[in-house]
Amino acid sequence: MVSVDNPEYWEHRYKEGSTRWDLKQASPPLVSLLNLPSTPPVGRVAVLGCGRGYDALLFAAHGFEVIGFDFAHSPITDATALAQATGSSAKFLQRDIFGLPVEFPNYFDYVVEHTCFCAIDPDKRSAYVQTVYSILKPRGELIGLFFTHQRPGGPPFGVTVSQIQQYFETNFEILSLLSVTNSVPERLGEEHLGRFRSKTVGA
Ligand SMILES: C[S@@+](CC[C@H](N)C(=O)[O-])C[C@H]1O[C@@H](n2cnc3c(N)ncnc32)[C@H](O)[C@@H]1O
Repeated sequence: MVSVDNPEYWEHRYKEGSTRWDLKQASPPLVSLLNLPSTPPVGRVAVLGCGRGYDALLFAAHGFEVIGFDFAHSPITDATALAQATGSSAKFLQRDIFGLPVEFPNYFDYVVEHTCFCAIDPDKRSAYVQTVYSILKPRGELIGLFFTHQRPGGPPFGVTVSQIQQYFETNFEILSLLSVTNSVPERLGEEHLGRFRSKTVGA
């Protein structure tokens, strides 16, 4: 069987329509975040494992300069077409996220995570943290909506709140990591929204 590390695994799922993760809209907790008085100020955003691009389009609609990344071909094609059809400024690039530190070192003010962390092999989670840290500017922010379900197997691979803290706390200051109340029904009670600030060296 093709592993989740291989874009062919995901391409196959898009082609056969086995895309239960696809909300056909931006994730409600991210929509809410951008409507808060304490909404993050605009800046450059990377959306990792962006799929068909709904979250990227959301941030672009709020004035952020956004690039969505996905290593599967179909979702990048679909996201690009959606951006063109809706007049969005969001851009989309077909890339493996683990290669981004070479191309985009210290480039982004924000990284947006939504159902990418749960899609990668859990053995690559430390590499994911290093990737996010490397592409953010110093004191840049990870806005992460984590799928904290506790069922075995995956994808989606579940994670606990304390595991998230353990993975990120060396490189990031955990500003908040809270359960959200407006998830889509099939994820209700199983999502946590984190805002983590990248630590500067020696901080
Ligand atoms: C569960 S889907 C979620 C897609 C999107 N975030 C959404 O909510 O609709 C996971 C996505 O991550 C992408 N992906 C997984 N591993 C990746 C990697 N190493 N680099 C880039 N994209 C990756 C897959 O191709 C897939 O589109």
